[in-house]
Amino acid sequence: MARNSDASAPVLDVQGLHVAFRGEAGLLKAVDGLDLRVEPGEVLGIVGESGSGKSVSMLSITDLIKKENRDTSGTASFLGRDLVARDLLKMGKEELGRIRGKDIGFVFQNPMSSLNPTMRIGAQIAEGMLHHGEATRADVKEKVVALLDKVGIREPEKRYIAYPHELSGGMRQRVMIAMALSCNPKLLIADEPTTALDVTVEKQILELMMKMKDELGLSIIMITHNLPVALNYCDGILVMYAGKVMETGTALDLVSHPGHPYTKALFSSNLELGRRGTRVEPIKGNIPALTHLPSGCRFHPRCPMATDKCRNEVPPAMQSAGLSDHLTFCHYPL
Ligand SMILES: Nc1ncnc2c1ncn2[C@@H]1O[C@H](COP(=O)(O)OP(=O)(O)OP(=O)(O)O)[C@@H](O)[C@H]1O
Ligand SMILES: [Mg+2]
Repeated sequence: MARNSDASAPVLDVQGLHVAFRGEAGLLKAVDGLDLRVEPGEVLGIVGESGSGKSVSMLSITDLIKKENRDTSGTASFLGRDLVARDLLKMGKEELGRIRGKDIGFVFQNPMSSLNPTMRIGAQIAEGMLHHGEATRADVKEKVVALLDKVGIREPEKRYIAYPHELSGGMRQRVMIAMALSCNPKLLIADEPTTALDVTVEKQILELMMKMKDELGLSIIMITHNLPVALNYCDGILVMYAGKVMETGTALDLVSHPGHPYTKALFSSNLELGRRGTRVEPIKGNIPALTHLPSGCRFHPRCPMATDKCRNEVPPAMQSAGLSDHLTFCHYPL
């Protein structure tokens, strides 16, 4: 445990995170040596193709996926509101339970699977606030209604007694955000928060998250498939592929000078990012089976630039364009 009187210390500092699942096909290495830092007030985007370990990394450090067949190692130092950094991976169930839902809030892709369909939304938000001591029986309703109002839900008194199915998708996602923010978290983890929504509502929800970030001084980790969203709303971006970080840097650096052929391929494969006159090229091949990973660089079987070195040696972190915060895990950064 370390006391950081320095409020500018990272809110979350993950080092060497490994997550593997034991199964019939052998050991599935979902996350293999992830390092990640989130600074106060930062929005960090995690992008990468499906199955690259984005969700598993965040769900493992907060112990939200079952443990029976999961091996997790590394450190995940979280700076609580008392400015004491503690390793989430060494915490007991109770201590982690106090932090999860309070200092760390979550917004998931599908609100219907996260909200209890048989419980009125006001009562669901109130439950968490009462549990974490953020409200008393006497003032909880007032606080929940104020929160619903804050996240842009009209007629919040009426909505307080609504069931989830009585709300639109966008409204339910606002409820999820209200719930995640109800205990004043320091970190919000949003895993595909807008995928189920149409573009207009998506924009409203993202703008709301950014407004809340500024008002409440939160940090956000945003996992998204949507590259334009990552580039528009995130300060830093971490690109994952088959359980490993491929590249990390500011959104601006990554889009203007991608250092990893995978990042470049990911951007080139994105329809919405395509500029007029440029071709959208799907990435050839598939993500490897995580039970039978390729040697060397994990991307080498799909990489147009691969050499023997790529096939045999795991690439170290290389600084791109001399920028210390732009790291590319490639033997031949672009
Ligand atoms: N509980 C589990 N048991 C075994 N394997 C799992 C479990 N949860 C996830 N996995 C596997 O771990 C790998 C990483 O999954 P993860 O959900 O993190 O991917 P992702 O990057 O979030 O993908 P997506 O973009 O589709 O959400 C996948 O191969 C997945 O099948
Ligand atoms: Mg996921």
